[in-house]
Amino acid sequence: MPSNIIPRDRLIVALDLPSVSQARTMVERLGSSVNFYKIGMELTYSGGLPLAEELVRAGKKVFLDLKLHDIPNTVARATEQVAKLGATFLTIHAYPQTMKAARVALGDSPLKLLAVTVMTSYDDGDLRDAGFAYGVRELVARRARQAQDAGVHGLVMSAEEAKSMRVLIGNDMLFVTPGIRPAGADVADQKRVMTPARAITEGADYLVVGRPVTQAEDPAAAAEAIVAEILGALGSKP
Ligand code: C5P
Repeated sequence: MPSNIIPRDRLIVALDLPSVSQARTMVERLGSSVNFYKIGMELTYSGGLPLAEELVRAGKKVFLDLKLHDIPNTVARATEQVAKLGATFLTIHAYPQTMKAARVALGDSPLKLLAVTVMTSYDDGDLRDAGFAYGVRELVARRARQAQDAGVHGLVMSAEEAKSMRVLIGNDMLFVTPGIRPAGADVADQKRVMTPARAITEGADYLVVGRPVTQAEDPAAAAEAIVAEILGALGSKP
């Protein structure tokens, strides 16, 4: 995993809020405690892209979780447009055609692509229903290797998968992990969770954290506590 990432930048706060004004208020409350924000589909469809540009202008980093997937020409053109927004990360589904088209379309843009291998809401039965010949483990491994071959920069995965994926993929891809819960935090609808410190020691590069920060009584203090945990874990790495 790259060691030159600024520790605070390893925390990506998911702005899972229904309106731009609520998201903007949250960003103001978080201030300098958070450098990196994830904007997903909900906020994107309610004015999130201009907000992304606003955040970039304010010196923040933005992860656009748009999960692109279409015919290669459409994916390429969409990727070209997203690259103009100044975001740092963009998600795409890990289909070989989609990944290759997006990678070529990036040109020399600094935007990095993250592949979503298999949605965590899918189990083996769901994949069978959808017509796949592989179970979750096999399909995740197959798509991770295809992502690497396509020159995709990173993978989104559960922190529980990070260690075994490092063995499979090596150190040249970024691992971005949601499902993070500081010790004692409300797990809510996440089933497989890991603390920030443990996720880092398991090999995650970036942690996506939503509600433990955005629904905290003091969001900035919650973010600072996570950054402190990340720093502690980095210090204790062999
Ligand atoms: O609030 P919480 O910390 O659970 O938010 C996690 C964020 O990561 C949400 O934006 C969610 O959509 C996203 N995510 C996830 N699990 C995945 C992929 C993305 O929780 N497998």
